[in-house]
Amino acid sequence: MAVNFSNDPTAVGFFAPTRFEADVLECEVIKGEVPKEIDGAFYRLGWDWFYPPRLPNDAGPFSGDGYMGMFRIRNGRVSYRGRYVRTPRFLANLEAGRQLFGVYRNRATDDPSVRHINRTVANTAPFVHAGRLFALKEDALPVEMDPNTLETRGFWDFNGKYRAQTFTAHPKPDMETGEMICYGYQATGDLSRDVFVYFVDRNGEVTREVRFQAPIVSMMHDIAITPKHIVFNTSGFVTNPEWMKAGNVMWGWDPSAPTYVAILPRDGEGKDVRWFKGPTRAAVHLLTAETVGNKVIVETPVSDGNPFPFFPQMDGSPWNPKLAVTTLRRWTFDLSSKKDTWEEEIVFPNAPGALPRIDDRFYGLPYRYGFMGYADPSRPFDEKRAGNVGGRVTNVYGRFDLRTGRIVGNYFVGEVGSLQECQFIPRSRNAPEGDGWLIGVASNYAEMHSELVIADAQRLDEGDVARIRLPFRLNSQVHGWWANADQLPLV
Ligand SMILES: [Fe+2]
Repeated sequence: MAVNFSNDPTAVGFFAPTRFEADVLECEVIKGEVPKEIDGAFYRLGWDWFYPPRLPNDAGPFSGDGYMGMFRIRNGRVSYRGRYVRTPRFLANLEAGRQLFGVYRNRATDDPSVRHINRTVANTAPFVHAGRLFALKEDALPVEMDPNTLETRGFWDFNGKYRAQTFTAHPKPDMETGEMICYGYQATGDLSRDVFVYFVDRNGEVTREVRFQAPIVSMMHDIAITPKHIVFNTSGFVTNPEWMKAGNVMWGWDPSAPTYVAILPRDGEGKDVRWFKGPTRAAVHLLTAETVGNKVIVETPVSDGNPFPFFPQMDGSPWNPKLAVTTLRRWTFDLSSKKDTWEEEIVFPNAPGALPRIDDRFYGLPYRYGFMGYADPSRPFDEKRAGNVGGRVTNVYGRFDLRTGRIVGNYFVGEVGSLQECQFIPRSRNAPEGDGWLIGVASNYAEMHSELVIADAQRLDEGDVARIRLPFRLNSQVHGWWANADQLPLV
């Protein structure tokens, strides 16, 4: 059967699969100069369907094959490399010449010939720890890749000491201790309520495991850490055996599902988890958190409804784009109170964005700044010239000052472009918080190419300091990660 994407309605325009691997030995710098102080790699992981989806109800972006990109920046020069993650699933499909795997996290929809094969696509987030590069997706163990060649090395189980079947796409580095705090939910198999948490030291050795159970089976995509606590949350994305049996993608949105938040003391055990319960929310990504006295304060983009239209409404109601809009909010949990609820405050009401970052050196530390791409509707978007990409378009990178409530941002795309998640590059190892650069990819929908944007994180209002043009469009990114040259054996 020949490869043919013509029946896949998602394979159009800028979001069609690229289906090639790339090496650009030196990229074109079309504006400014790449700062000579920058030495490291910007990894970006996303999806790129190599064979069309097997079933029409699959969750497009969440199920496409993992594809790792790498911008190596050194001495003011930039190279690019892009490779598919050679997961067991990718290799099985390649052998068969077609898509053998069914819909998002529902093994019963796979071709019977591959029911024994790990079905992860490893397409969500790159992560670097203990000198290793990983491609992560929350339904499987980390897939290790060579940080230079991007060759896939295979699953990594921390020498057998990581016992969950799954590993989050968002482990957290604690730069103070060098630790990585990570977890797997549905840790003992699909639909299990088990959450296993691991503390991994700076050398990559698992030092401690904590186990607890969530009250419901729900997406638990991200965590936030403070020096004293770890925060986990559920959302309106839930599932059940009947839903799975009907051949659905794992998650449906239940508009009546409460949100549960777990706060685990860093030195505690499973029995020490304190659960809070609130109204239906989606806080898919947590910016970060702080412990202040008896309070744990989480700052994060939140929506009141379903942010992902490819996960169906469980009650059959139409998807509501208004309820999908996020605002950056502050959740305050009072550990000295007996109440199991929390306070919610909207901090930035007019900057909808969903992929927040901080200066990574400040995970687990008191912090002030967040960085995020968001949509400013006052800036026109020419849908006709851009090719009817539709939806909200991210056109601003902003620095969010959580202390003053002020955003300093700038438009880094014109009327036919959109921005992907940004990363922070510190100016030097000991530079103050937020002193460095933002880096991210801009998509030009009209000209069908991608550009790398580098801007001074403290002077976003002055525009970009360098712009690098790729001679093609990159695959769609989910998340990225910046690694300084001293964190990986880079060549
Ligand atoms: Fe994520």
